[in-house]
Amino acid sequence: MRVSCRMVAEILLLLKERVQPGITTSELESIASAEATKRKAKAAFKGYCNYPSALCCSPNNQVVHGIPNALPLRDGDIVSLDFGILYDDFYGDAAVTLPVGVVTPSLKSLLDATEMSLYAGIEKAVPGGRLFDVSYAIQNFVEKCGYSVVKDFVGHGIGRSLHEDPQIPNFGCAGKGVKLKPGMVLAIEPMINEKSHEVLVLEDGWTVVTKDGGMSAHFEHTVAITDKGPDILTRVD
Ligand code: MF3
Ligand code: CO
Repeated sequence: MRVSCRMVAEILLLLKERVQPGITTSELESIASAEATKRKAKAAFKGYCNYPSALCCSPNNQVVHGIPNALPLRDGDIVSLDFGILYDDFYGDAAVTLPVGVVTPSLKSLLDATEMSLYAGIEKAVPGGRLFDVSYAIQNFVEKCGYSVVKDFVGHGIGRSLHEDPQIPNFGCAGKGVKLKPGMVLAIEPMINEKSHEVLVLEDGWTVVTKDGGMSAHFEHTVAITDKGPDILTRVD
């Protein structure tokens, strides 16, 4: 899993360098696909439940699962890039939301709060803890910032399958949920809306958008629980 997760992290970093006004999400898709092939790895999302692409690109009011297209990103947009790899029978999965050019301070705060909520959750991914300690930490952080947590989509266990038990909601009661043990690997992925938590799925069957048109951010890491604490497998130093 370290190997597949490192590949995901490296490829997201390469994509980050390419995100700028004028690039299309299809171009980002091509880069992600080519980089996976170069590493003899398989892009995990392509064909998963008939998802058509290797990469999920979700700009602005799109929450997750946006399908890459020929529209150029514009200065002031934000865009979530979510990527998964299958290598040597194991999956890795991670996401970042990036500013395109210069974004407003309020969008920058949304991105920062979402990323920090992910780290607040990860901190709780320790042996002896409970799953919803992670969920609660994310919710509590986000709501203190005045944002709302998407309830209809969740994080997940990950390993030989992209989605394994347990489901990991980004809200819940601390002290509840399954007991966390060394060896568990979790894909923790807060999806955070600027305004209402409510979302809709577009007619393409994939693209999740905010119901009120507000902006949305998404960060994800694949995290192993170890005796020494959480080990973030999709982080490159
Ligand atoms: N990171 C997302 C997830 O864990 C991406 C899934 S896209 C899909 O669910 F196409 F593969 F479904
Ligand atoms: Co995921």
